[in-house]
Amino acid sequence: MSVITIEQAGKYEGQEVTLQGWLYNLRESGKLLFPIFRDGTGIIQGVCAQKEHPEAFEALRGLTQESSVIVTGKIRAEQRAPGGYEIGVAKLQVVQRVSESDPYPIQLKEHGVDFLLDHRHLWIRTPRQAAILRIRAETIRAGREFLDGQGYTLTDAPIFTPAACEGTTTLFEVQYIDDQKAYLTQSGQLYIEATAMALGKVYTFGPTFRAEKSKTRRHLTEFWMLEPEAAYADLNDMMVLAEGLVSHMVQSVVKNRARELEMLKRDTSRLACVKPPFPRISYDEAIEVLQKAGNPAKHGDDFGGDEETILSTRYDRPVVVHRYPAAIKAFYMQPDSQRPDLALGFDVLAPEGYGEIIGGGQRIHDYDLLVKRLREHNLPEESFQWYLDLRRYGSVPHAGFGLGLERTIAWICGTEHIREVIPFPRMIYRVYP
Ligand code: 4AD
Ligand code: MG
Repeated sequence: MSVITIEQAGKYEGQEVTLQGWLYNLRESGKLLFPIFRDGTGIIQGVCAQKEHPEAFEALRGLTQESSVIVTGKIRAEQRAPGGYEIGVAKLQVVQRVSESDPYPIQLKEHGVDFLLDHRHLWIRTPRQAAILRIRAETIRAGREFLDGQGYTLTDAPIFTPAACEGTTTLFEVQYIDDQKAYLTQSGQLYIEATAMALGKVYTFGPTFRAEKSKTRRHLTEFWMLEPEAAYADLNDMMVLAEGLVSHMVQSVVKNRARELEMLKRDTSRLACVKPPFPRISYDEAIEVLQKAGNPAKHGDDFGGDEETILSTRYDRPVVVHRYPAAIKAFYMQPDSQRPDLALGFDVLAPEGYGEIIGGGQRIHDYDLLVKRLREHNLPEESFQWYLDLRRYGSVPHAGFGLGLERTIAWICGTEHIREVIPFPRMIYRVYP
């Protein structure tokens, strides 16, 4: 007899199978029991009749939520059941019974978000959370598949770093060995600029850290970034790569995680249209759009959530905003040769109000200009000597970007807040569990 997952149930209609999982819910109706089992791949309803299977009935009756169980029975098509199939419970082995005196803390009712976050280690068991995490895995798989297919080689960047990449205000300082100081990385970019000069096209995928004091639905202090970088590449190459990457991630989830999107009640018609080309507007045009919409933004301002929402809700797919004022962007951004006050940088803003999911652009490849910028930004030159070496020895125009994984997944899933799309969110006031 086959041990299967709930996800596979449809392929075993009419056959006796074994499922290994947990009791998600139990409804009792006289001589009939209607359990719902979950195993991480989905949920399935069961039926157990006292007359037919008295032993299984006794094992199941009164069984507590989240008790672990191994269930054997026949799979039947059942239109009204979630997933379209049910299992006729013939045998039930309880692996661990949750005690009546210490019941599972998360009931099948609404809980406050702080309570759920305190119990995140258990909250991830609920079908909605499991669906989100499966979509997360698919998004990562598809992103890596796309970059691998474009000839990009994965090169990992360090977590401990000697200096800032994205401004000094959000740096996490750590006490390193003896009295040395180090910082948690804000982005792998500087390091993959080095590996790009060694391998050509590279990417890194790993956790990044920002001491964000902001308590918004888009900010985590620890989040994951997928960052490609290429030698002999410019701003335009990266805008093309970004729209291809985002589209591939979205379409892979639509295709391979349709059940999960359905469980999240995601309107997939909003995802189906996410295909290249993405609309592109310059920062200057964006300011005009904002002012026409009555937003107080003026030239030189950076965009916050409100501005991003106005810009991104105008389109059915992500919009690329390029050529921001150099003054509001990071020290490493290559100036536009036509307009040196503008940086050859771009952001990708997701639709439906999700805002910035990608930031990137072309890097300064000229030694003298980079030194000047380090000084203007009060960055410690000695910590950047290795980075300056890249401009001393065979410097070439190069470009890249960083895709914020959680922002992207929150948009794909349509979740309210990005804390739901990472297994264990780290936020301004939360490092537990
Ligand atoms: O725009 P950012 O700051 O760009 C960089 O770090 C570049 N060095 C990347 C590169 O060019 N290789 O961050 C990139 C993306 C943002 O667009 C956003 O999606 C995400 O990372 N991000 C955050 N996500 C969650 N919480 C935060 N606090 C985030 N800060 C940035
Ligand atoms: Mg940014």
